[in-house]
Amino acid sequence: MERTFIMIKPDGVERRLIGKIISRIENKGFNITKAKLFMPSVELVEKHYAEHYGKDFYNELVSFISGGTVMAMIVEGENCIQVMRLLIGDKNPVNATPGSIRGDHASSTTYNIIHGSDSSDTAKREIALWFGGEE
Ligand code: TYD
Ligand code: MG
Repeated sequence: MERTFIMIKPDGVERRLIGKIISRIENKGFNITKAKLFMPSVELVEKHYAEHYGKDFYNELVSFISGGTVMAMIVEGENCIQVMRLLIGDKNPVNATPGSIRGDHASSTTYNIIHGSDSSDTAKREIALWFGGEE
């Protein structure tokens, strides 16, 4: 079964959206097979967002994600990588379709509540990075 890495970002946790987001993942028919609530280190978040290193938003992004509690999860289900990206919605609030998680709850590109892996290779890399020692 396909697996993807999902993270509720600090703004989603602070806004008490964990319950709503988990319900939406489960309503879709996916299983959450691992989850942990914790404050990730700067090192972990830098590795997670390595592809964006050097971009103008990178420093703010790393301090935002490492500055609060996140909920990291492994989600399992058929085509869950692509379907979760659809359920999450676009990072640009102008393009985040109403009905998607970002479309319904986010109005900022930086503070956009949730992360989901964007491909099969990314999902493998992110699951290993966030849950590596525990499998
Ligand atoms: P990206 O991987 O492009 O988006 P997604 O989260 O949909 O995969 O960017 C990663 C995160 O970086 C994004 O969720 C929010 C942040 N970001 C900004 O703050 N400003 C920006 O201009 C971009 C492109 C991203
Ligand atoms: Mg991305």
